[in-house]
Amino acid sequence: MSPRILSTSPLVGQALGELGEAFPDLLIAPFRSPAWQSALPLAEALVVLLSEPITETDLAAAGRLRVIGTYSVGINHLPLQACADRGIPIVNTPDVLTEATADLSLALLLAVTRRLSEGEALVRSGTWPGWAPDQLLGMGLAGRTCGILGAGAIGRAFARRVWSLGMKPLFWDREGRGGHVEFGPGTAERAPLNSLLRRSSILSLHCPLTAATRHLLDRDALLELPTGAVILNTARGGILDENAALALLESGHLGGVGLDVYAGEPAVDPRWITAPRTVLLPHLGSATVETREAMSRLLCVGLAQEFGRTGR
Ligand code: DGY
Repeated sequence: MSPRILSTSPLVGQALGELGEAFPDLLIAPFRSPAWQSALPLAEALVVLLSEPITETDLAAAGRLRVIGTYSVGINHLPLQACADRGIPIVNTPDVLTEATADLSLALLLAVTRRLSEGEALVRSGTWPGWAPDQLLGMGLAGRTCGILGAGAIGRAFARRVWSLGMKPLFWDREGRGGHVEFGPGTAERAPLNSLLRRSSILSLHCPLTAATRHLLDRDALLELPTGAVILNTARGGILDENAALALLESGHLGGVGLDVYAGEPAVDPRWITAPRTVLLPHLGSATVETREAMSRLLCVGLAQEFGRTGR
């Protein structure tokens, strides 16, 4: 019998359909719909999105499950320990979304520091009075230090971008390693978290959400940043303590915040909506056609390999 693949989405591109031709028993049903729920006990592979948390209860109900595929690099929505205990591998989509996510972080950086949303709103309002010497002044970037939390592929890709703007990248990594990080055109120092925070005019998050990084940026950590620092988050919402960030934005300690991810997304704390000096995006990090197609291909190759490894 062919493996029964239960996916919550057709994904982008042809890859899932092609996988369905090789392994014909493919069902696409919305997450937690009655159809999905009733197919779960027979599913041998689950394909889910980053917004679809799988629980230990789901694993218990999915007695035939052999692999979980997630259409994301992040795996914080999956029960990792329970999967490991049951010998269920996880297939995710690393590397193919690196450049797209770093691009989006750069877009947020420029949007926040050059006040693009305010500028665009002014023009669209029809009330732009014309050029003025002190209109919508932003923050210059050349020569500033950019703290990068996470020295993985996306953090290094973002370092290349800020380096090209004349900024100095500075890394922190979860393993607490010292030494230097090679990021292509240059190398940058790795620093302990507090030291990095004290030196960073811009702070960009590029580490996964784990028990160790949840609220890594709490009030005390944020207070280590220089006054006027800008925070960018394209990683995961739970890493930044949003209450603390909102309070410190209000007090003026933070100069701006650019968010692509939120602790309870798709719900967004309503205080962000009216907060000044913010740019808010709807989790667009990997949202290019090329990247989403590449993610589909990588995921489906990984699932086919798992079926090949464990046999039909
Ligand atoms: C992922 O794949 O985990 C990213 O958050 C997508 O933007």
